[in-house]
Amino acid sequence: MDLRQYEGCRLAKPVFLIGFMGAGKTSVAWHLARALCLDAVDADDYLEQVEGRSIADVFAEDGQDYFRDKESACLEELARRSPCLVACGGGVVTRERNIQTMRAAGMVVYLEVTPEQVLERISDTSTRPLLSDIESARATMHARLPLYEKAADATVQTEGRTLTQVASEVAQALVDGGALVCP
Ligand code: S3P
Repeated sequence: MDLRQYEGCRLAKPVFLIGFMGAGKTSVAWHLARALCLDAVDADDYLEQVEGRSIADVFAEDGQDYFRDKESACLEELARRSPCLVACGGGVVTRERNIQTMRAAGMVVYLEVTPEQVLERISDTSTRPLLSDIESARATMHARLPLYEKAADATVQTEGRTLTQVASEVAQALVDGGALVCP
């Protein structure tokens, strides 16, 4: 499975990659962007640039509600841009307004991950203010599951799959959903 068959394809609308922390949203977005010459933005990086400080500092200094307000504002800006791949923060679905923004503007792809994998993939949890241990990851993921499912146009499983496999499945889901148009 590789991405060569999608070379020359272009995005017809923005694509939002959602899923829990550690699902691989950023890696998949960059992988696809590099392979297919598409634009990609990490929504957390974008927010950090706008704020001029790290997400950990935003949480520590102004709290989660402030962060969520900024996250919604950034998402709306990114949704208005020319179509690109947007790797969203894991909690983007916690506000109904964000789900509406994403679904109205483009296609939403949910990358599924297990709590065990999350902790395996994220060794340094200091950059993730809402991730401490496996029990909290489990509880938060459980609470968010219906929201991810509600927001998603397509779902891609990441467990036991390589980055290339996941990216290829995402690319195919985008073609099927009309977000990636091939010559
Ligand atoms: C969060 C996930 C993080 C970041 C912030 C909050 C969450 O993004 O937006 O720490 O609530 O799940 P990643 O999913 O990119 O780690």
